[in-house]
Amino acid sequence: ERVPSHWRPRRHFSPARNWMNDPNGMVYLDGVFHLFFQYNPGGSVWGDIHWGHAVSRDLLHWQEKPVALASEPDGLGMIFSGGAVVDWENTSGFQRGENPPVVATFTHHDGNGVQVQSLAISTDGGWRWEKYADNPVIPNPGIKDFRDPKVFWHASSRRWVMVLAAGDRVHFYRSRDLKEWEFLGDFGEKAGDHGGVWECPDLFPLKTPEGEERWCLLVSINPGGPNGGSATQYFIGDFDGERFVPEHQEVRWLDYGTDNYAGVTWDGLQGRGDRRILVGWMSNWDYANKVPTEIWRGAMTLPRELYLYRDQERLLLGNRPVTEVQVARTLHSEGVLERGKVVQLPGGNALDLSISVGSAPELELEFLAGDGERLLLTLSRERGVLLLDRRESGWVEEGLGREIRAPLVHSLNRDSELRVVIDGSAMEIFVDGGKTALTAVFFSSEPLSRLAVLRAAGLSPAYSLYTI
Ligand code: FRU
Repeated sequence: ERVPSHWRPRRHFSPARNWMNDPNGMVYLDGVFHLFFQYNPGGSVWGDIHWGHAVSRDLLHWQEKPVALASEPDGLGMIFSGGAVVDWENTSGFQRGENPPVVATFTHHDGNGVQVQSLAISTDGGWRWEKYADNPVIPNPGIKDFRDPKVFWHASSRRWVMVLAAGDRVHFYRSRDLKEWEFLGDFGEKAGDHGGVWECPDLFPLKTPEGEERWCLLVSINPGGPNGGSATQYFIGDFDGERFVPEHQEVRWLDYGTDNYAGVTWDGLQGRGDRRILVGWMSNWDYANKVPTEIWRGAMTLPRELYLYRDQERLLLGNRPVTEVQVARTLHSEGVLERGKVVQLPGGNALDLSISVGSAPELELEFLAGDGERLLLTLSRERGVLLLDRRESGWVEEGLGREIRAPLVHSLNRDSELRVVIDGSAMEIFVDGGKTALTAVFFSSEPLSRLAVLRAAGLSPAYSLYTI
């Protein structure tokens, strides 16, 4: 590669060549995590969108597979975002042989920009795909932005439910067989952030710490993110199979960084610990087409486990790296971070740095690359904020050089932890297991090689540095 190899993540998925955006059709079956994605096989900028395909058994080591769904330039068009479900009871009648059919729901986007909802079917457990002969299954009702259908089985009403983005709101539909869809209603015209168009929704139940069920609605929005460009907001509430009713008014963000977009969750984990695992696209529409990796563009976030937690009575959504990361990591060094301390970062590895911030009122860390390029990370209990400054981090065009500010969503305590995962051109920052999260890409001319402590007011925090 003539592009610097240190920009390529090792434990996050990125395509070998060409353009990638949103994760799609994530489905778990037979021990395999399937990940599909928005992909342009013809180049490294957005266009002629297909569904690419990658698989993993541990969510950390990914293998790229042949394209799963090709665009139809002379037909229904490009293959935009959507989901996939395992149809265990063969409600669709698509089953051939032993395997339950896997059914993908996606948006066809034709040459005139018309968006309709379509199906594709895999009868071999998610490896090979065929488009449904009677596409589309939902025609366009006269709405310009009408896309990204995500489907799940709603057990108590025994129906499939679809949530899709319709401009400034989401629409809900339901079906018995995944083929015939009935419109239920919408949500969002008067809720959440409206600084941009709504995209890539997802809806799923999670348990509260007290063991009650709540429903989480994720909605990505572009632009309008808290630090510019693309970001994902969430709502917590109730869903009875027809209507979503939120339990809060204020806007909430899943991740305050600039680079976690269009994230949705895996199907097929119901009854397997009921894990709810999300992957997002680690880029931002502000600069995605311009980042200097040139021959490939786009990577996914680490898979993250979503969970509900309480902070001062409020019920909030956290997102932390899946436990597979802890299992896979090896201790590289440990010690105490007093002011002036320098920690060497071993090159050529994905890194996982964990810091017990104790009662330190403020911690300021500098991640250095080669000749004076750096990222500045500040966690301030005093100011209630997490900051990442990329202004001197190397390639800083198209708004990538802005300082990123994440108000601490939750309250810190004496056991608070700051965790930083660094892999290639990505930094994922989690405070207290993802109660506050900040994901950002950066493109330094050389790999990050050391960490310097600029300020560690109060206690000297202990750290452990792992390679993954
Ligand atoms: C989100 C998005 C989706 C759309 C896809 C097109 O990033 O704009 O709404 O389906 O990308 O590639």
